[in-house]
Amino acid sequence: MRPTPPPRTYRVKSFGCQMNVYDGERMAELLAAEGITPAPEGEEADLVVLNTCHIREKAAEKVYSDIGRITKDWRREDGTSPLIAVAGCVAQAEGEEIMARAPAVSMVVGPQAYHRLPAMIAEAVEGRRTVDTDMPAETKFDALPARRKVGPSAFLTVQEGCDKFCTYCVVPYTRGAEKSRTFNDLIAEAEKLVEAGAREITLLGQNVNAWRDADGRGLERLIERLALVPGLARIRYTTSHPNDMTEGLIEAHRDVPQLMPFLHLPVQAGNDRVLKAMNRSHTAASYLAVLDKVRAARPDIALSGDFIVGFPGETDAEFEDTLKLVEAVGYAQCFSFKYSARPGTPAATMDGQVPVEVMDERLQRLQAALNASQLAFNAASVGKRCTVLVERKGKYPGQWLGKSPWLQSVHFTGDAGIGDLVEVELVEAGANSLAGRIIIN
Ligand code: 5AD
Ligand code: SF4
Repeated sequence: MRPTPPPRTYRVKSFGCQMNVYDGERMAELLAAEGITPAPEGEEADLVVLNTCHIREKAAEKVYSDIGRITKDWRREDGTSPLIAVAGCVAQAEGEEIMARAPAVSMVVGPQAYHRLPAMIAEAVEGRRTVDTDMPAETKFDALPARRKVGPSAFLTVQEGCDKFCTYCVVPYTRGAEKSRTFNDLIAEAEKLVEAGAREITLLGQNVNAWRDADGRGLERLIERLALVPGLARIRYTTSHPNDMTEGLIEAHRDVPQLMPFLHLPVQAGNDRVLKAMNRSHTAASYLAVLDKVRAARPDIALSGDFIVGFPGETDAEFEDTLKLVEAVGYAQCFSFKYSARPGTPAATMDGQVPVEVMDERLQRLQAALNASQLAFNAASVGKRCTVLVERKGKYPGQWLGKSPWLQSVHFTGDAGIGDLVEVELVEAGANSLAGRIIIN
């Protein structure tokens, strides 16, 4: 690679989960602290960071088509292209392979090393390509600049990594072992987020409910303390594992008014043999028992989950158990995926890989059931009064969009502004959103 002038503008493109959105924001702040500014909309940037996702094959392949497009579309008259950095989980999993396959990439940086981006940019400017997929003992968070301006709903990573080793999943390899950030750091960052405009904070982690304080106390301790931060109206957390749903956390749903009545608790499948082969270490019945307890603590809680269809060896009858579980729970919303074999995971080499046509058919049936469940949940909300946290303007004059406590998208018309908590009555329900009417006291 030949030397290039130091980049003056950047663009960060994040794919995949909310943690990548958070990491993308932190990388943007890091670049801004180096004096690099965001490229205006529609203009090319001197530096592009692709913050990638490795969870399924389609997501992982996207990075290569993106690199191709950037180098093709943005070739300048002098023959140079923007500097490209590949970050995120594909970077972690395929570091050297990316370098070999994509000569246009000058930096590959893993999710635990991105605080080193400025040094890598300096190398790239000199014409050297670098790969940094270390998982250093020191935390990147200490090396990142403070939060500045955020929207009304902000993310805060509290925990990273996973020790559960579900047999289909790359996360334990790309994000490493479970690691909790310290209580004090998190309170400090949350206070900064609120000063910067956040009214709602979503605590993030691959296994967020595995978060532990140094003294061993769990996520409820953090939630209880965050509830004391003036100006912070709403707290959420995602993603949780059924086995880490402790009594204390369940009680927080009863006792902490700022903790929103919403729980994303992936189950993946409804059949115990499949769950065992997935190494989920819970059964369908133990999962349902957790939900019963949560509902006892917070009767109006909205439930959400993740599902995989076509795990190796899944029979038609076993898939039917997933549909039965969906029926039993009455989810408010869900994510569902076709199984995707990921290199290096135990499931990738299991017998009984399911043909794609079978997976397609199962996914269609599952999604039909989940959509019906979501619509039923929304329909049952009509007539309820609630607050809506306004996140943006709607399509029509005077219209606003925001979220209900149950994470439904709500639109309404009237006097409001971004970041307001507006009292509405929910008056009409669709599958994906509800209409609200402002309550004038
Ligand atoms: N194939 C399909 N879906 C997967 N997920 C994780 N790994 C895979 C895979 N190999 C899904 C799970 C998880 C969500 C984040 O992605 O449902 O909860
Ligand atoms: Fe992946 Fe399972 Fe860990 Fe979730 S709990 S990140 S699905 S290994």
